[in-house]
Amino acid sequence: MSNEWKVICKVEDIPVLGARVIQRADQPNVAIFRNSEDKVFALLDRCPHKGGPLSQGIVFGERVACPLHNWSIEMQSGCAVAPDEGCTQSFSVKVEAGSVYLDAVELATPAAPFLPAGSANAGEAAAA
Ligand code: FES
Repeated sequence: MSNEWKVICKVEDIPVLGARVIQRADQPNVAIFRNSEDKVFALLDRCPHKGGPLSQGIVFGERVACPLHNWSIEMQSGCAVAPDEGCTQSFSVKVEAGSVYLDAVELATPAAPFLPAGSANAGEAAAA
């Protein structure tokens, strides 16, 4: 599938080791992160544990620590680092000439309903 890249901001608009929040109408926000090597990642701004705002977490390497209970989330995949489990949605990112692009189609796609990691009916709801 080809991407419909849309300019979001400049890399320098994202604080180093921090995040910038992209607000979406009717959908949870997306957080875009910048690490110390100027790599940029985008995740749904919702921790897979209990929905904490990952944009307020601390970036280290290619991971972000959730501000609520300190789970580490891999920014490339959106998945929690073991022994914790669960993934949040990750978004494709392109950086070109200092500008950050996200995929317009991905941005417009509704997020899956939030089911905290380990919730009893997670399997059922996913199958529905
Ligand atoms: S909500 Fe993120 S670690 Fe608990």
